[in-house]
Amino acid sequence: MDTVFTAAALIILDGFVLWLVLSGAPFIPTKKEGVKKMLQCCDIKPGMKAADIGSGDGRILIAMAQAGAEAHGFEINPFLVWWSRRKIRQAGLEGKAFVHLQDLWRADFSAFDVVTLFGITHIMGRLEKKLRKELKPGARVVSMAFKFPNWPVESQLEAVYVYRQVV
Ligand SMILES: C[S@@+](CC[C@H](N)C(=O)[O-])C[C@H]1O[C@@H](n2cnc3c(N)ncnc32)[C@H](O)[C@@H]1O
Repeated sequence: MDTVFTAAALIILDGFVLWLVLSGAPFIPTKKEGVKKMLQCCDIKPGMKAADIGSGDGRILIAMAQAGAEAHGFEINPFLVWWSRRKIRQAGLEGKAFVHLQDLWRADFSAFDVVTLFGITHIMGRLEKKLRKELKPGARVVSMAFKFPNWPVESQLEAVYVYRQVV
């Protein structure tokens, strides 16, 4: 009975991990230097609304909140949501930084002035379509390491790509 239970648990866990990978990127945190470059490309001004898509342990959204933004993270992994909320409290950023336990494909990014992401190749086409449909004119997208297939890059800082919503 124990073996059947363990096998069932492993199958469910495997399925969950596979679903996580297919629906977005695995958790690979941006390095310290990368966070600095992302922040530089975001050009945060106080009062801006910023989102990190797939916010991991919260390092990007915490940096954006410290720079003066109202920063929102969207993260599908409950453990990372718990961990990043803990980091927000430790940094004294309650009311400035928020993490939503949400699938990025179900989130609405239309309210944000700047959106950051560290995705993976196979989601970039679908994500480009979603962001170009939703974002307001002038909104900026800052992508670590991965380019959108059709959206022209506005500027680039090494492997950080900046896009602007023009319509
Ligand atoms: C490469 S990590 C980036 C983490 C963080 N933004 C950083 O730069 O350090 C990608 C994150 O996206 C999350 N993720 C993957 N699929 C997702 C989905 N469908 N919706 C929301 N988050 C997702 C993963 O759990 C992971 O934490």
